Amino acid sequence: MSLLITGGTGYIGSHTVVELLQLTDGNIEQDIVIVDNLSNSSTKVLERITQITDKTVTFIEADIRDESALERIFTQHTIEAVIHFAGLKAVGESNEIPLAYYDNNVSGTVTLLQVMKKHQVKKLVFSSSATVYGDNESPLHEGMTTSATNPYGQTKLMVENILFDVAKSDADWSIACLRYFNPIGAHQSGLIGESPNGIPNNLLPYVSQVAVGRLKELQVFGDDYNTIDGTGVRDYIHVIDLALGHVKALQNLEAIKGCKAINLGTGNGTSVLEIVNNFSEISGVSIPYKVVPRRAGDLATVYADASLANELLAWKTQYSITDMIADTWRWQSKNPNGYN
Ligand code: NAD
Ligand code: WQD
Repeated sequence: MSLLITGGTGYIGSHTVVELLQLTDGNIEQDIVIVDNLSNSSTKVLERITQITDKTVTFIEADIRDESALERIFTQHTIEAVIHFAGLKAVGESNEIPLAYYDNNVSGTVTLLQVMKKHQVKKLVFSSSATVYGDNESPLHEGMTTSATNPYGQTKLMVENILFDVAKSDADWSIACLRYFNPIGAHQSGLIGESPNGIPNNLLPYVSQVAVGRLKELQVFGDDYNTIDGTGVRDYIHVIDLALGHVKALQNLEAIKGCKAINLGTGNGTSVLEIVNNFSEISGVSIPYKVVPRRAGDLATVYADASLANELLAWKTQYSITDMIADTWRWQSKNPNGYN
């Protein structure tokens, strides 16, 4: 039996693959097949995964929109379940090239679901996002109404709705829609981590590239929010905790009848300046920053009600903000240019 991981050479996918390969409880024993078109990742990740785990995975370079490529994968391997990470994820870029986002994220997922259905594979873990909560007030819980303010968010919402409909149409499906908050950090080995192309959009990759001297200074988007120090507050979650959330979701898929949305966050918020100060302290490098106006679309405070994941999956986060920053710094300082 095999597990198919779409987008498995990406940031969250690669960390999840490592945790799956290192499972010792014998609960999941499948081979791992990764499909990725390498649009935002590198095959170097595969060598690093083997370095960490001493195990290999099957890698197929293909696009999830390519139905015949997926058809070949499902014919050549006995796929039991799919973890679906593949997609585009930059909010700003999604406003500029919305069609590419709808094509990759929505059409790509529909193609994947069609091939899964054809091959009677009806177990899926999907990468959703806290962005589907729109401007609801935190703590955000799964019962809240959903909405989107940009094409990226729309694609996550559309896919969630498609998954709910698919599960409603056929009781054999078990689908976990995992709504991630803000994943940061890296594997403790420093061998895999986040390696964005171009100028990073997210806070942590930006701060760490300032720390290694690739970028001059951080722009802090607003210090006049109603928060502890006026800067934006987010629920940062260690990528390893997030990866372990996928393992738990997979192990509990049988119990999830239909499609279930589940938050993966810590339930705690940290401000931009708290991140910057902690990063300077842990790395010993000062992080120059300048406060600039608020970024359009940003909310003051976003954090999860993480109780459902605890109840349903027996999952809780283990790592602190200090761990997240220490691991980000280990990865970035050992690999100043990421995988390049
Ligand atoms: P990533 O870009 O590092 O990984 C995504 C992977 O998918 C990349 O390796 C890319 O090459 C691949 N890919 C993209 N389009 C593809 C296609 N059409 N066919 C095959 N492969 C394709 O991103 P990530 O941070 O690891 O995110 C993984 C998933 O989690 C995404 O769906 C993203 O929207 C979601 N998510 C991410 C965050 C975050 O902050 N990182 C938060 C919430 C949700
Ligand atoms: C965090 C905080 C910024 C950069 C985004 C997506 C969301 C999800 C996670 C995928 C905010 C501030 C940032 C900078 C800054 N992704 N900031 N200077 O916006 O919470 O969420 O990534 O699903 O959908 O919207 O994360 O890391 O961009 O910002 O001051 O250069 O850092 O204003 O308060 P965000 P982020």
